[in-house]
Amino acid sequence: MTQTNRRWFYAAKPAGALGVQHFELRTEAAPIPGPGQALLRLCLVSVDPAQRAWMMARTYRPQLMPGDFMPAFGIGEVVQTQSPDLKVGDLIEGDFGWQEWAVISPKQVMRRHSRAPHPPLERLIGALGITGLTAYFGLLEVGRVRPGETVVVSGAGGAVGSMAVQMARLAGCRVVGVAGGAPKCARLGAELGTHAAVDYRSPNFRNELKAACPDGVDVYFDNTAGSILETTLSLMNQRGRVVCCGAVAQYDQGAWGAGVAGVPGILISRRIRMEGFIVMDYEHQRRDAEAAITRWLDSGQLKVLVQVVEGLEHAPRALVELLGGANFGKMAVRLELT
Ligand SMILES: NC(=O)c1ccc[n+]([C@@H]2O[C@H](COP(=O)([O-])OP(=O)(O)OC[C@H]3O[C@@H](n4cnc5c(N)ncnc54)[C@H](OP(=O)(O)O)[C@@H]3O)[C@@H](O)[C@H]2O)c1
Repeated sequence: MTQTNRRWFYAAKPAGALGVQHFELRTEAAPIPGPGQALLRLCLVSVDPAQRAWMMARTYRPQLMPGDFMPAFGIGEVVQTQSPDLKVGDLIEGDFGWQEWAVISPKQVMRRHSRAPHPPLERLIGALGITGLTAYFGLLEVGRVRPGETVVVSGAGGAVGSMAVQMARLAGCRVVGVAGGAPKCARLGAELGTHAAVDYRSPNFRNELKAACPDGVDVYFDNTAGSILETTLSLMNQRGRVVCCGAVAQYDQGAWGAGVAGVPGILISRRIRMEGFIVMDYEHQRRDAEAAITRWLDSGQLKVLVQVVEGLEHAPRALVELLGGANFGKMAVRLELT
């Protein structure tokens, strides 16, 4: 077993866009589990835009400060244990950060898979992970989509977006994906079955989105905020719902954008409900959601899209590239131990 543990730290606050220079890789002694603890070998760690948001401000967790260890969701295997509740070979999911080894206690476990063969890691981090659950609860609980409605999804080629697109289609909706660039928009149609896809970087974005939604927009699943939200809001139907899932267009700006003055007028006159949520709000419904998603996966109706980067040393680069739109589906880093 290794004597060392490579760990990524958030080293410096970005003035604008995040870069790899804002991170520092340190090699420390491998941790040793004490009584009631277990040693986890991380296999797959997540790369999320939220990590950039945590650097920017206090969100649903305290703001990340320079010098802090990089938090990240991940999946690992128990290799040593002094806990009766954690067995060698168990696959554990939780917030264990960007590192190779973690000492954990049972209360840090978000999900535990005790029986081999374990579900494929790509499924666990993608469709059945935070990604899939966020899309599921956002669409069905917050958006309350109904068959025949027009649903617009921004960040449609991303982790949550690609799931939301597919789930909205499965719910019988007309789905319009919004993403950056013609190649990604083409993939939305070809691989995810959107009824239309619109490039938000186009100078005619508003007209193109309007043409793609001839009956208006009933539900907007918003992963981006910013100008895409502004445009889509103006196309919403009476009794429409705006699902505020994320604000990725603003994370690299270093602050939330200003300007809400015109929003109430639209919400009031069109009776629109605009609601933010965090996936954890629906923890009590997680098992039902996992069962539904598993059925879609097993029947081939839902595709798992995971883009894997090999090697922990590339985690910051993966995050920077993710924010630049390099991913299609869920971005994650697979660890090869040194
Ligand atoms: N509420 C919750 O519980 C919850 C849970 C998970 C995630 N989220 C949020 O959901 C959103 C999506 O997360 P994810 O993990 O699925 O990430 P993701 O969509 O896989 O990756 C981020 C994507 O954002 C797009 N993007 C970057 N800058 C943009 C800009 N200025 N304008 C428009 N799009 C931009 C890029 O796609 P393009 O190539 O299309 O630009 C990129 O692929 C994030 O805002 C995240 O914080 C919320």
